[in-house]
Amino acid sequence: MKTTGGSDAAKRNAGESAADLVTDGMVVGLGTGSTAAHAIRAVGRAVDSGLDVRGVATSFASRELAREAGIPLSDLDEVNGIDLAIDGADQIADGDLVKGGGAAHAREKIVDVAADRFVVVADPSKEADRLDRAVPVEVLPAARETVAAAVRSAGGDPTLRSAERKDGPVVTDNGNLVLDCEFGPIDAPSALAATLSETPGVVEHGLFVGVADEVHVGTDDGVTVRE
Ligand code: 5RP
Repeated sequence: MKTTGGSDAAKRNAGESAADLVTDGMVVGLGTGSTAAHAIRAVGRAVDSGLDVRGVATSFASRELAREAGIPLSDLDEVNGIDLAIDGADQIADGDLVKGGGAAHAREKIVDVAADRFVVVADPSKEADRLDRAVPVEVLPAARETVAAAVRSAGGDPTLRSAERKDGPVVTDNGNLVLDCEFGPIDAPSALAATLSETPGVVEHGLFVGVADEVHVGTDDGVTVRE
């Protein structure tokens, strides 16, 4: 899995700290990305040691990793709620997030919002005073141009995300495209989130506003928990 930002030790400390919150009988939302992957592996080790948990994956990648780690999996419609979701972020400011670096933010948002407790795992490179990362917007392929025009009207600069290793665009697990939308510093994340959500053809955007319950920020030698 691709690693971005801070050190792997910092990501591991954050992921393992969140995995320590998993207790017997829980249904756990399994996030996507290199930091959440450490949490998934740690939950897998706990399952190996006898912990009875069920995972709900947020992407094809997290499902494959969870399978390798030996975590029993269910779909969201097969469980009675999610006790705890553990997921990464591309940027964090005042508890609000930009997500979707792995193009998984639509399913991540469904699972993370559904959870009784949503714990974000990150390294210090993700922390900011204000959100200013490009906001990933998953769009129906037929709506690519109309959504791009709406993003420009809202003051943004959209770029179709391209696949790194082959010609052509990134296609999400849901068969859609991703526009990475630069807005500069985002002063009012809730208002921008509402504007994007209201745009026809937008499947989901990567602004997670007021959703996180706590953030575990790992460093090379510890973890800080922000609530
Ligand atoms: C995927 C995500 C990831 O959680 C986000 O990109 C962080 O990834 P990483 O932990 O590898 O930096 O939102 O859609």
